[in-house]
Amino acid sequence: MSGQKILNIGIDLGTSRSVIACDNGIRTFMSSYVGYPKDAVSQKMLGKGIIFGDDALKNRLALNLYRPFDRGVLLHSDSPEKNIEEYNKAKSVARELLRQLISQVTKEEPDNVLLRGVIGAPALATQNNKKDLLDIAEGILDDVLIASEPFTVAYGLNLYSNALIIDIGAGTTDLCRMHGTIPTQDDQITTFKAGDHIDRIFLELIKKKYADANLTLNMVKRFKEENAILSSQSESVFIELPVNGKPTPCDVTDEIKAACRSIVPEIVDGIRKLVATFDPEFQDGLKQNVILAGGGSQIVGLQREIEKYMKKTLGYGKVNKVEEPLYAGAGGALMLCKDMPEEYWDQLKKRS
Ligand SMILES: Nc1ncnc2c1ncn2[C@@H]1O[C@H](COP(=O)(O)OP(=O)(O)OP(=O)(O)O)[C@@H](O)[C@H]1O
Ligand SMILES: [Mg+2]
Repeated sequence: MSGQKILNIGIDLGTSRSVIACDNGIRTFMSSYVGYPKDAVSQKMLGKGIIFGDDALKNRLALNLYRPFDRGVLLHSDSPEKNIEEYNKAKSVARELLRQLISQVTKEEPDNVLLRGVIGAPALATQNNKKDLLDIAEGILDDVLIASEPFTVAYGLNLYSNALIIDIGAGTTDLCRMHGTIPTQDDQITTFKAGDHIDRIFLELIKKKYADANLTLNMVKRFKEENAILSSQSESVFIELPVNGKPTPCDVTDEIKAACRSIVPEIVDGIRKLVATFDPEFQDGLKQNVILAGGGSQIVGLQREIEKYMKKTLGYGKVNKVEEPLYAGAGGALMLCKDMPEEYWDQLKKRS
């Protein structure tokens, strides 16, 4: 291998967005959608056999559209035997997604460059969930390491100890306490109340209030991303929805707040557990340094809401959020990739 150029890559294959950061300075992301033209007409219209990201979403009527990850892991990864066909399809779709991301960052690289990647997985991903990620990367990356997502976020922020990271994604919210070593299972909690859950609740609540309005989960998600708010003192929030074909402004102030609030109890319960089971002398350090990451960290008022609950249940709490929620996971994975000693990668090769 001597003399061969090594490219370090951090990858966050998310339920909603997939992000890549590379040590050649290139980083990018795309929505985790892959679409295949439905027939000869759609193939001709689109001019390609496979479409990625928001482009796929926009052209969904002409495509068989796939979102290969669910609840933070490959679709059907927890019980592949129940749905073997869809599971295999999700795997091949995820491979295409990864290949596309890699091609975006390696355009200018020589063919023989060695691609070394760290891929994030939910905090409590099972062995099978992780094996799926290794399978997906096989033949695309030369060396691969799977790391817990909140850990990669912490690593990227140089927060090795006295910190509690909460990564609020689409499929999962992952909590992880840092205390100077690689976190173990006991240091981490995964809940399934995250962005997708908010979207489902928000859709349900709007449908209940405006039975005649016509709307989809996707519309609700986009609206939420621009208006997500939790605080009680705020202006009214209106969404324009087609009612019998006519765009009609609908007041959804209470609905969006209730939907955003629906993820809070499990988050604060997770914080309470991770603090209460920690060495008492270090508990204050955790409470003072709760960090929100992931797309869900952008909900306006979430920080204060969590602090309020922490004050009630733990006496005190200080919550901050990362500056770049989109890149925090992949950026940290890249740093981890660069920092892993060469012997580690050698050992990994010997084992496989
Ligand atoms: N401004 C915003 N306010 C509220 N939610 C947002 C905002 N921007 C993005 N989101 C939500 O954040 C989620 C995506 O976050 P992120 O990209 O961290 O998730 P992911 O990594 O794809 O998911 P997972 O980690 O669960 O696999 C989506 O549910 C999205 O709707
Ligand atoms: Mg994520």
